[in-house]
Amino acid sequence: MERIQKVMAAAGVASRRASEKLIAAGRVQVNGETVTALGTKVGHRDKVEVDGVPIHREPHVYYLLNKPRGVISSAHDDKGRKTVVDILHEDEVEERIYPVGRLDYDTTGILLLTNDGALANKLMHPRFEVAKTYVAKVKGIVTNDELKRLRLGVRIDGRKTKPAKTRLKEVDRHQQTSLVQLTIHEGRYHQVKRMFEAVGHPVLKLHRETYGFLNLQGLQSGEFRELRPTEVTKLKQL
Ligand code: URA
Repeated sequence: MERIQKVMAAAGVASRRASEKLIAAGRVQVNGETVTALGTKVGHRDKVEVDGVPIHREPHVYYLLNKPRGVISSAHDDKGRKTVVDILHEDEVEERIYPVGRLDYDTTGILLLTNDGALANKLMHPRFEVAKTYVAKVKGIVTNDELKRLRLGVRIDGRKTKPAKTRLKEVDRHQQTSLVQLTIHEGRYHQVKRMFEAVGHPVLKLHRETYGFLNLQGLQSGEFRELRPTEVTKLKQL
């Protein structure tokens, strides 16, 4: 169930604020009854009309993108830079989708996009703790002790990160860099970069390999696919 003004905004009727005005003005009907309470919630089967005209509610869609570098993880960018949503819209996707969480401009890898606000909110809520696996190329040779510190938690903004998993994949003694796999269950701002920063190894390159049970198999950089119904069901059950 979602608030009626949110459903109206998602259907492109008007902004959320303008939709509230339409509701308050008595111009909105749910299942034939005029509603004026702003807190009213509607489910998928409820018929919502404005001035007696049914609103068009988009069915929910779910996409998995292998985000390339140099793209913004949002629906719009004030500075006109290319967004992850632009990538899908250039390729016949028409729904008003947005990314679930964010990857930095220079981070690559798995990103979920949907117009299902309820699922997006649930997945981004810290309580659900979806596991995310990253591979970071970092400056310097990472020691076992530093890996342990990453696993147990490091302080970021005065708050310790939750237990993580680590795997040292490669070290390049010549270039003095390491490749580390890190699995976390949180999504704090620049979390992975700041975790490595905290142990003295700035991130040079960052890629997200998995999101929960989803991975990038079959998707080259910049490619996307729709989730299978079984995958959507599984995400909802997480
Ligand atoms: N952590 C980061 O620092 N950057 C990302 O893009 C994702 C996680």
